[in-house]
Amino acid sequence: MKIAPSILTADFLKLEEEIKSIEQESDYLHLDVMDGHFVPNISFGSHVLSGLKRITNVPLDTHLMISNPIDYIKDFAGINSSFITIHVEANKVKETLDLIHSYGIKRGLSLKPKTSIEELKPYLSELELVLVMSVEPGFGGQSFMVDQLDKVRELVRLRDEHHYNYVIEIDGGINFNTAKLAKEAGVDIAVAGSYVFNAKDRNEAIRGIK
Ligand code: DX5
Ligand code: ZN
Repeated sequence: MKIAPSILTADFLKLEEEIKSIEQESDYLHLDVMDGHFVPNISFGSHVLSGLKRITNVPLDTHLMISNPIDYIKDFAGINSSFITIHVEANKVKETLDLIHSYGIKRGLSLKPKTSIEELKPYLSELELVLVMSVEPGFGGQSFMVDQLDKVRELVRLRDEHHYNYVIEIDGGINFNTAKLAKEAGVDIAVAGSYVFNAKDRNEAIRGIK
């Protein structure tokens, strides 16, 4: 299982140093973009992220928790992210996924804990990533919702049955114990924010959950 530390819990006054402190063991850098409308919190936008590629070789994994992602795909395409993930609860899902694809960026689709997997089904054949939220999106440091692993198991089953190509990512409440459950359920990439950034030795924490 790959690990994508979320920089949401990093100290933004020294972001470069913070990224250097985790890049040795990180498979991706997970970037949580929040608009204060889709979720009750505001984080950062493409301007803040635009220089990341100059300071790190770790591939970027952008998670847009915003209501109208279509208006911002051009800006986020400019940061050179490997994946851009939008939410199925957002506006203009199909058009936005097509736009992401037109930039040669891998398409991700996420769902909130209360959203049924049925909502994803029309899009699964065109996705490179499905992101299962294991907390209510908006804040780091919440507890893992173990019932969301049923969605992971169902996504594994659907991928086998229909030969889909997506990887399965999980986001929220990942630590040493919950990462093990996620891996057993079939998760390919686990996002970990507070567990990594609050650890004394961050690379050791990532190695531990791997
Ligand atoms: C929540 C974000 C997560 C969050 C994870 O809305 O999407 O990526 O930062 O943080 P932890 O690992 O602390 O739950
Ligand atoms: Zn996220």
